[in-house]
Amino acid sequence: MSTEIVVQGELTRVELDGAVATLRLDRPPVNALNLAMQGEIRTAARWLAAARSDVRAVVIYGGPKMFAAGADIKEMAAMSYQDMERDSHLLQESFNAVAAIPMPVVAAVTGFALGGGCELALCADLRVVGERAKLGQPEVLLGVIPGLGGSQRLPRLIGPSRAKDLILTGRYVGAEEASSLGLADRVVADDAVYSEALALASQFAAGAPLALAAAKRAIDHGLNADIGTGCQIERQEFAGLFATEDRRIGMESFLAEGAGKADFIGQ
Ligand code: CAA
Repeated sequence: MSTEIVVQGELTRVELDGAVATLRLDRPPVNALNLAMQGEIRTAARWLAAARSDVRAVVIYGGPKMFAAGADIKEMAAMSYQDMERDSHLLQESFNAVAAIPMPVVAAVTGFALGGGCELALCADLRVVGERAKLGQPEVLLGVIPGLGGSQRLPRLIGPSRAKDLILTGRYVGAEEASSLGLADRVVADDAVYSEALALASQFAAGAPLALAAAKRAIDHGLNADIGTGCQIERQEFAGLFATEDRRIGMESFLAEGAGKADFIGQ
């Protein structure tokens, strides 16, 4: 399958391989997330959200050595309170845009995912983590706190005590501990991280896109609501899928041939 670059930035790009798009971070040596890169991530996420219907899943990848070592500390060190008060809204919007990508998103984590790097991985739906990778929220060691959603997404994912353990100590966790915390969904050999993430994304890409997007919305929006409201959200999403061709195709295919044989069309 040939890879096509569909969004080319200075520090990031979006590559399309079949129905799977890869948001590739490319700022050696550590993919430090400076303001320009966070802007490009915002542009890429918005492009993906509005993408052609043939983009059905996304991988976020920082290359074989490093996911991302966090916000660019050299750039941040020169910023004033006024600068950050002005820019932090836009920076959070970048990561909110990633979390709002409607199709399934898999983070392929190699090397380090620290600070903003870990927060970016938290915006994905699932995390495939290399066995020697390390993840953490070390912002307190710099005298600040996570600023790109980490203090909110991490406790929602792994629970408040575990999130406080990581955020208040700033310690890094290896892949096995990340897995036991629920921060890593798959732990694989370091050189298999991207191929495993692509395989997972390809599995999603072959699924029923409207159902996958509805499931993602139900979970993400429901988590921010009380359970009654969450069940209402689920009910609307569930009933809405009965207006789609794919649910007819899925159910007829099951009755004719058994589970998992349907060819969904995304309508
Ligand atoms: N920002 C800017 N530059 C960084 C960086 C960062 N986050 N992390 C590493 N670098 C730079 C280093 O300064 C070094 O630059 P020079 O070659 O010019 O000296 C280069 O990248 C390589 O780094 P190291 O020599 O430290 O390489 P290493 O392999 O020994 O260690 C590392 C790699 C473990 C990632 C280590 O660099 C590290 O701990 N980095 C900082 C991690 C961190 O604290 N991240 C949180 C940032 S704050 C944040 O993200 C806030 C937020 O929520 C928005």
